[in-house]
Amino acid sequence: MAAIAAAAGTPCYIYDAGAIRAAYMTLDRAFDAYPHAIHYALKANSSLAVVRLLQSLGSHADANSLGEVDVAMRCGFRPDQIVFTGVGKSAAEIDRAVSLGLLAINVESPGELDRIDQRAVAQNVKTRVALRVNPDIDAKSHPHISTGLKSNKFGVPIGEAPALFREMSSRRGLLPVGAHVHIGSQITTLDPLQKAAQAVVALAQALRGEGIALQHLDMGGGLGISYDGAPVVDPAEYVRALVAATKGSHLKVAIEPGRVLVGPAGVLLTKVVDVKQFPGAKRFVVVDAGMTELMRPALYNAYHRIEPLVRREAPESIVDIVGPICESTDAYARDRAFPHVEVDDLLVVYDVGAYGAAMGHTYLRRPLPPEVMIDGDQWKVIRRRQTLDELLALETE
Ligand SMILES: Cc1ncc(COP(=O)(O)O)c(C=O)c1O
Repeated sequence: MAAIAAAAGTPCYIYDAGAIRAAYMTLDRAFDAYPHAIHYALKANSSLAVVRLLQSLGSHADANSLGEVDVAMRCGFRPDQIVFTGVGKSAAEIDRAVSLGLLAINVESPGELDRIDQRAVAQNVKTRVALRVNPDIDAKSHPHISTGLKSNKFGVPIGEAPALFREMSSRRGLLPVGAHVHIGSQITTLDPLQKAAQAVVALAQALRGEGIALQHLDMGGGLGISYDGAPVVDPAEYVRALVAATKGSHLKVAIEPGRVLVGPAGVLLTKVVDVKQFPGAKRFVVVDAGMTELMRPALYNAYHRIEPLVRREAPESIVDIVGPICESTDAYARDRAFPHVEVDDLLVVYDVGAYGAAMGHTYLRRPLPPEVMIDGDQWKVIRRRQTLDELLALETE
């Protein structure tokens, strides 16, 4: 990693292709022979090399914007391998999604149902749709990443679903092919995921009784990873639970994992730029990465394991590890016991492959950092560092 830091500079994201492959194979194998599709959720990390790697493994795609739909297609996914979710799809997005013939547009509301139908009729096609249901199940995750409670903005209450499926079936432009549920992210217990799966299976069975035959049940993403060593759901066990819930219906299971596929495969390499402590005050380790490169700590108070790349022979102390951004929320760790470090030491921030680079931004005119992919004993830069000229390229004055 020191060689990568020397060549690519810091801050810098590094992904391990082998870890992504292994995580994908674990999920895929756990389905055994049961009909399924793993739709990688591009929102977790849509860097082209990462998406292409997952495509090469046989993954399908889950896009949360038209930009992600296009990225998926550039990376080799066929439109009929892509599901498109989004709580506020614009008219332009709907129009293009309809024209592409995606596997399913996940419908979020009666109004959206109507708008998709209108666009499909105007284009003289029948568009495959799934209905995103909100089962009012507490994912017991961070409130900012819970999506399956009735207080959340996502989907339609599951009790309204039968009527909306009837409505979809009656529309000239719509072909209802699936039910979709996604109750949140970083879910660390099986129970809410299992309950959500059971709820959509029950819905599908009831619809079948009415003559509405779905083709797939999209159980969403959400499986958590262990950022701090605490126990989480075993991915294979999760898949087996989904299959157990679904097999009576014989319907194909789709899942939309993001974090579990790429989260543990990424680290952020950052350099100490200052260490300061005044009498009676905290000790601050200031690093060259901040909330611009990795938003999760500032956004969700998220924990990430951090270690010096090379440990010095010196006692630990309690420190705040903070970024260089002029915001007090710009801290990667607070009051953490940490080995002694000095200016220019390299630190490794773990488990940042998901919602790291993808959420990066350029506040304070900080160019986006490079990304590197390691594969075995080879590595290559998959995105070089943005230049200030590139950052300013859109401005006209
Ligand atoms: C609709 C949808 N599907 C899939 C995902 C992926 O979730 P995760 O990365 O937790 O697996 C998300 C993220 O929250 C999402 O909003």
